[in-house]
Amino acid sequence: MSNSAIIRKATLEHASCLLEIYRPYIEHTAVSFELTVPTVEEFAQRIAVALETKDWLVAEICGEAVGFAYGAAHRTRAAYRHSVETSVYVRQDVHRRGVARTLYTQLLENLSSLGFANAYAGIALPNDASKGFHLGMGFQSIGVFPRVGRKFGRWHDVEWLHKQLRVDVSDEC
Ligand SMILES: CC(C)(COP(=O)(O)OP(=O)(O)OC[C@H]1O[C@@H](n2cnc3c(N)ncnc32)[C@H](O)[C@@H]1OP(=O)(O)O)[C@@H](O)C(=O)NCCC(=O)NCCS
Repeated sequence: MSNSAIIRKATLEHASCLLEIYRPYIEHTAVSFELTVPTVEEFAQRIAVALETKDWLVAEICGEAVGFAYGAAHRTRAAYRHSVETSVYVRQDVHRRGVARTLYTQLLENLSSLGFANAYAGIALPNDASKGFHLGMGFQSIGVFPRVGRKFGRWHDVEWLHKQLRVDVSDEC
């Protein structure tokens, strides 16, 4: 497999293969706070919602999906409309080959172009890979919610990281 990932806009047809990338992080880790794996239909619906106002990107190597990154609502109250929560998942056998960096670089650029001013990532601790990755992408740590999630019988802190995407925003949208 070559190293260079091609980034594409997700489609609903990607739901099934992207869910297989996501599944082990739900079933075997606390990286995702989901306790049960969503159905392909639920997952496709998440892609559809993201594509309406934010973004959902897929990384492919040799035509095979190996990772995805997307923007989701940070909070739903209207004053939060210029802020977005970002996430990225890469298939376990292609870690540390630049896939997440390629995905996030494009995602953050697209979200900035859409008018989002702030990107936030919540990392369930411990997750050295995600923390190292986000710091490397220019995010800064802004605080920790102690013992905010419980999975597999233990509490997890969530560390929040922030990156400013743009300073000028329109108050008309
Ligand atoms: C975090 C994750 C997305 C990184 O994906 P990746 O494709 O392996 O990352 P990249 O190869 O693009 O790495 C880019 C940089 O991130 C940092 N990084 C990546 N993995 C790291 C690790 N295990 N430890 C420390 N830093 C790491 C490094 O600075 C790296 O640059 P370098 O390889 O030149 O040193 C991947 O480990 C993953 O899918 N983890 C599980 C899901 C997850 O935690 N998602 C984030 C939820 S908040």
